[in-house]
Formats: sequence, structure tokens, C-alpha cells
Amino acid sequence: MFVLTSSQMREIDRKASQEIGIPEVVLMENAGFCVFEEIRKDFETLDDKNIAVFCGKGNNGGDGFVVARYLAQVCPNVKVFLFDENVTLTSKVFLDILKRLEVDVSILSEELLLSLKTQRFDIIVDAIFGIGLSKDIDGLYKKAIEYINGSSACVYSVDIPSGICSDSAQVKGCAVKANKTVTFVYPKIGNILYPGSYYCGKVIVKDIGIPEKIIKDIKVKILTAEDLDISKFYRFPDSHKGDYGKVGIVAGSKYYPGAAVLCSNAALQSGCGLCYLITPQEALYFQNLRKPEIIVLPVDGKEGVISFDGFVKFDEYLAKFDVLGFGCGLTKNEEVEKILIHILENFQIPIVIDADGLNTLSSSQKAKKLLANYKSQKVLTPHYMEAARILGVDVKDVAKSPIDAATKIASEFRAICVLKGSRTIITDGDEVFINVLGNPGMAKGGSGDVLTGIILSMIAQGYSAFEAAKLSVYLHSLSADILLEKKAMQTILPSDIIEGLDSAIRRLIE
Ligand code: APR
Repeated sequence: MFVLTSSQMREIDRKASQEIGIPEVVLMENAGFCVFEEIRKDFETLDDKNIAVFCGKGNNGGDGFVVARYLAQVCPNVKVFLFDENVTLTSKVFLDILKRLEVDVSILSEELLLSLKTQRFDIIVDAIFGIGLSKDIDGLYKKAIEYINGSSACVYSVDIPSGICSDSAQVKGCAVKANKTVTFVYPKIGNILYPGSYYCGKVIVKDIGIPEKIIKDIKVKILTAEDLDISKFYRFPDSHKGDYGKVGIVAGSKYYPGAAVLCSNAALQSGCGLCYLITPQEALYFQNLRKPEIIVLPVDGKEGVISFDGFVKFDEYLAKFDVLGFGCGLTKNEEVEKILIHILENFQIPIVIDADGLNTLSSSQKAKKLLANYKSQKVLTPHYMEAARILGVDVKDVAKSPIDAATKIASEFRAICVLKGSRTIITDGDEVFINVLGNPGMAKGGSGDVLTGIILSMIAQGYSAFEAAKLSVYLHSLSADILLEKKAMQTILPSDIIEGLDSAIRRLIE
């Protein structure tokens, strides 16, 4: 399913009316009716309800007038609150109809809003701002939104909750917290990314009669099972371990030995033929949870961290790997930087860089340059803070526009970027996929190491870096969601995500 920006939505609306000839009033009528239908579905009866419809002066308000008209046909207690009578031309058509039908329409004022405090509404429709929100909300708008949020009504937002920026999903001053948001054609970015997604409540996407053929060149999609290639999960009877690839992992230190274990366990569990772990001697004290199938290449360390001189002794192994993972739990120092530069200068293996690999990259101009010119497949898996370090920006800037941040990283390094967060973004710099699976139980140190292991395994089994990243992000979250289905406590161990991968794959392929 596509995800739209406000300008794409406007262009779609423009084409529908100007090129195809579908009048704007028809689209507004359809949109309003869809919202009404959704409300009607949720209640056994509406005739005993007190309903308020808050309408802004733009076309979002026009959709609200249509909702109000349908509601007024089945309910005697519908009140429409208008902020400004100076509405758009299309909206005016429906406002005039409401007036002719003698529906209760009032212009909202501070006094009127105060008087509403003694009234109880069962249902509130928020049609104040849609994709046209252009600045922070203040004044009467802010007070009305606070009133809506303080009420006990079931709140429906039209298109997007008022106050949420449809392009960044950020709250502009304040925002309506809806129970349900009915959006049109395709969801907007603000419906999908956080915090917007939280404010939307349940998101319902409705077709308002816009022909699919005019919807072109949309690069952002929600990651769904249909986007995934599962062909390599079927194994040929006469296959052998070599057919499923050799993963090499450079990870771990005296300080973070578990990261290496989680990453390599995850790689093995998700199907690679062989998994080699290159880790400092000093990390081996803590390897009782490592799967015995993992082949360990212990490296001489320096103060508990992998050393360059120790690492280069294993160069001959590197040439045999189908993919190399670099970074989980390595810590960051000059030795790690030297190793990364050595790999990028001397090998051409597909590489997945995570954690300290990314931190090392962000402070080394040489490594950055080498990586950009590295002639093999590359996957970078930063979380927001790591992305900010790579881009040299504040983490708030990444949070404000994560799609831009991920696309920038992918383009700069000609890599696949997996920007990890509550909505992980996967991009090759052109196409963008947003993962909507997963849960806050995954917010725990070690989750990322597991994801890196899965991506490595998928590349070793023959998937392209982009396919591997999509598949891995999906399976990682699906495994966590399946685990949470069975749990009362809203928390999950990354090692349980590994064990749950089998159930996730089963659910995906069945
Ligand atoms: N404070 C006050 N007024 C504002 C603010 C703000 N913070 N932000 C925007 N406005 C005003 C604009 O000046 C404009 O008059 O609100 C109006 C825009 O409102 P919208 O209804 O969001 O935008 P519009 O483009 O008219 O309609 C888009 O219509 O197709 C439907 O619901 C669908 O979201 C979509 C909406």
C-alpha cells in the first residue's frame, strides 16, 4: 500500500478533477459519506447520540459538512461548529445545504466553547484541519482541540487528526487524539509514522472514487507480505550447506560479548549454511549462550577490544564469506577504524554495518569515502542517533523527517539504509518501505544485533541486499508480535525473537 505526501495527494485531487473531470464536490461527497459509514458501523444506533462536528474553513471542513448532513438524517442531536464562515467554494456548497436543511450550525467563539463544557457529546467529528495544516495551532483552534481531547466522546478525525502534519507526522502545537481516523485514497505519512500514527487511533483507508491510473510515481509504501520474496525459504532436497551461504561476523568485545552472540545466533537460526564469528579472545568468557554450530575465530584483543594485528590473520577467511557483518558490540576505537578501512580497501564482500561499525564510520572521513566507492552490496542499519551522527545533524532532525534521513544515507553511500525505529524505514535511496509491524516490547538492547544477524543470513542465502533488508525487518517484527500475542508483560527478549523466527516464517509462508 502506498503512502502519500500532501503534495502528492493534492496532485491526485487535481488530476481527478481537471484531467479526468470528476468534480471536486463529488470527491468531497464521497469522502464525507465514507466517514459517516464508518461511524454508523461502530454504533448500533445513532438516534440517541449527541454529536458534534467541528469544521475548519478548508476542504477538510467541507468533508465535515457532508458527514454532518448524513448524521443529521439519522440523529436529531447533531451540532456543527464552524470556525470561520469564509469557507472554500467547494465546502460552501455543502455548508449551504446544511443551512437549507436547518441543521444546527454555529460559529465557534470562546464563549460558546466554554458553554460546551456543560454538554456531553457521545461522538465528535474532527474536520478542522487536514493536509492543509500550515503552521502551529494556537488561539481558538487550540482551545477547541483541548476541549475535544478532554471530552469523553468517541472521536473521529477526517483524513488526519487536526494538528498532525501530514508530511512529517509531527504535532504542530497540539493535536486531536482520535479513536479512529478515516483517510482517503492512501494513507498520508502523518497517518503512518509516529507520533501521528498514535494520534490517529485506528486508521481506515477509504476509496473515494479516484481512478487508480492517475496515481503514479509514488515511492513510499507500507511494507506488507506482498512486497516480500519468500522463494528462497523452500529448500531443494539435494542441497547442502554451501547452498545456503557463509556468513562472517566481526563483533563483540569484553564489554559487549552478548552482541556477538545475538547477531550470530540470529544469522544461524534464520537459515545460513555456515556462520563464522570473528571476536576478540576477551569476549569468549561469555559465550555459553552461543549456539554450538557457530564457528568461532578468536582474535587477539587489545584491552578487551579487537586488535588490527589479530584481525588481519583471518584475512583468508574473509575472502570465503558470502557476506560480512561488522559492528555489533565492537566498541569504537582506532583499531576498529583500521579494520573497517582494511576491509573496505581490500575486499569486495557484501557488507552489513551496524552499531559501532556505524559509529566508527561517522567519525572517519576515509571510511566514509571508501564505503561510498565500495564495489559490493552494502546495508547500513542505523537507529536515529546513529543516523544523526552519520549525517552530522541533530537527532531531532532525523526524527522530524526520517524518510529524508534514510534516503540521504542510502544515496550518499549507495547502500540500503535500514533506519531503525518504531516505524523502521528501508530504502535504496529511491523506493522507500515503512514497516508497521512490531511493538514497544522490542525496545531493548540486543534487538538490533538480532536484526543484523537475520539480514546477513538472508543475503548469504541469495537475496539481494534490498530484498534481504525488507524480509528481515518484517520477520524480526513479526516474530516479536507473535511473542507478544502470548504474553501479559509488554516486553520481549531479543533472544526470544530469534527463537520465534520459525513461527514468523511459518506465518509468512502459509
Ligand atoms: N491555524 C489556522 N489556520 C490554518 C492553520 C493553522 N495552524 N493551518 C492551516 N490553516 C488554514 C489554511 O490557511 C487554510 O485556509 O486552514 C485551511 C486549510 O485547511 P485544510 O482543510 O486542511 O486544507 P485544504 O487544502 O483546504 O483541504 C484538504 O480536504 O480533501 C479534503 O480532508 C481532505 O485533508 C484534506 C483536505
